[in-house]
Amino acid sequence: MGKANNAIEASRADSGLADSPEWRGFAQAAQSAALDAGALKVIEAAGLCVDLTMQRQSPALDAAAQSLLQARGLAEARRALFAGEPVNWTEGKPAWHTALRAGRTREQPDGQDADSVCEYARMMDFVRRVDQTADFSTVLHIGIGGSDWGPRLAIQAFGGASQRRQIRFVSNIDGHAFHDAVAGLDPRRCLVVVSSKSFTTAETLHNARAAIAWLKQGGAADVSEQLAAVTANPSAARALGVPASQVFKMCDWVGGRYSVWSVAGLSIALTVGAEVLIGMQAGAQAMDQHFQQAPFGSNAPVQLALAGLVNCSVLGHNSLNIAAYSARLLHLVTYLQQLEMESLGKRVAGDGAAVGVPTAPIIWGMPGTDGQHTFFQWLHQSEAGAPVDFIASLQGHADSPDAHRKLLANCLAQRQALLRGKSLEQALLDVAHIDDREHALTLAQHMVHPGGRPSTLIVLRQLDPRGLGALLALYEHKVFVQSVVWGINPFDQWGVELGKRLATGIERELAVPVSAGVVDWGHDASTSYWIDRYRSHAQAPRPRHAWVPGVAAHL
Ligand code: F6P
Repeated sequence: MGKANNAIEASRADSGLADSPEWRGFAQAAQSAALDAGALKVIEAAGLCVDLTMQRQSPALDAAAQSLLQARGLAEARRALFAGEPVNWTEGKPAWHTALRAGRTREQPDGQDADSVCEYARMMDFVRRVDQTADFSTVLHIGIGGSDWGPRLAIQAFGGASQRRQIRFVSNIDGHAFHDAVAGLDPRRCLVVVSSKSFTTAETLHNARAAIAWLKQGGAADVSEQLAAVTANPSAARALGVPASQVFKMCDWVGGRYSVWSVAGLSIALTVGAEVLIGMQAGAQAMDQHFQQAPFGSNAPVQLALAGLVNCSVLGHNSLNIAAYSARLLHLVTYLQQLEMESLGKRVAGDGAAVGVPTAPIIWGMPGTDGQHTFFQWLHQSEAGAPVDFIASLQGHADSPDAHRKLLANCLAQRQALLRGKSLEQALLDVAHIDDREHALTLAQHMVHPGGRPSTLIVLRQLDPRGLGALLALYEHKVFVQSVVWGINPFDQWGVELGKRLATGIERELAVPVSAGVVDWGHDASTSYWIDRYRSHAQAPRPRHAWVPGVAAHL
């Protein structure tokens, strides 16, 4: 058997997980492990501290985890991932995002693949050229999913006052989104960056064409000079009118949700600086090294993954809340939603049969302390609750040490409250002053917090590019470890295809003239009803429900 086939076999675990003695041993040990924060468990990795003290722990669980990881072939799967072997077995491709941060290059035998190092250097040259000419005051970034979230996250995190030029994003195929994005921009001074690995994504192509029309109408002297593209499909970008010198090639061997490590970082470099990209890559690379070298027992991504397996697959928690105590990490949750849910939101293993244990929790959340005033009530007192990943930094804004102390205090207090809870006895002390004892008892019952809710705390020294890079790589590798245990391929996304295909047909039907008479669409009753209802609405002589800001609604 060849090396590539070995890799495929190594990563393609079958569906026997639930019945295996290693899984049964792990599940049993997890059920009886303590959740009492009795023993400090902090792992230092790539400048991050991962504190797993408030997860279930016991020596028996550690031992069972080692056997499980060995039985599922984690060491070999990890080797294959870093070697660029085709670990994405349903598509026969590598998932070699780690090579991008290691600054490695790769030429495929057919010579078609770009040299990633050279493309990166070309992209950085372009950024320098743009900086020198000062022709552009704004960037309009067009892309969706992995071609959007990374730049959005990094620019929000490191934008602030240092932003070289303004940036607007448009991802959705919604006229409001496009018009809002370009509102107030000077089309003659705007650089349009079209980011799409495939260059076939409907939303992105629609918005790119709208941007070209906007540039033309706005009097751009040479529209093509105002276009740049990052893609694994350069000919499609050129066909749209982007000059070859402004097309930067992504590698086909990097999945779309890992694009931030590729030339898709162009908009980041143009707005918050190339040093942000370089710092993020360095942090991610440091986490790659830790993941490869640290023993499983003190390996941060591995231990984070194991905590998740206990919470999701053994204890049945179907969601994971992410609470980043940093306003600048506003887009972290959405970034992780794509990373985790597009990667793991699957139910079959390598042999096509069901995994047999619950997989892939829903990822949700918002920055703290906003979340405390939104859904933390549910985290503390609902029947189900959810595990939480708290994320914080030791250093806050240099000019606001008081604010940072308060922010951190809230973060520490929330996780303590989730773990400890509040008993009826404690609640009764709070109502001791109420004379009506029956009422006092009822009230006290409302104040009980069940507690026993697990959490992890991830601490950065400060929110800098290096720390963010390490944080994203931590989650990437956590996802990979879980995928190996479950036997899931984390690098494909078949689940997004069906809806896309149906939309093409429905869009055609929505445009059929009402004059065509009654049509049997062959859909369910609801879809057919809304196709007809939309056609009557859209083809009526004038819009009947237009709303213009500042003007009373005309019905
Ligand atoms: O949502 C499906 C998906 O293929 C993602 O994996 C990807 O990040 C996104 O669409 C955008 O794809 P592209 O970069 O090819 O436009």
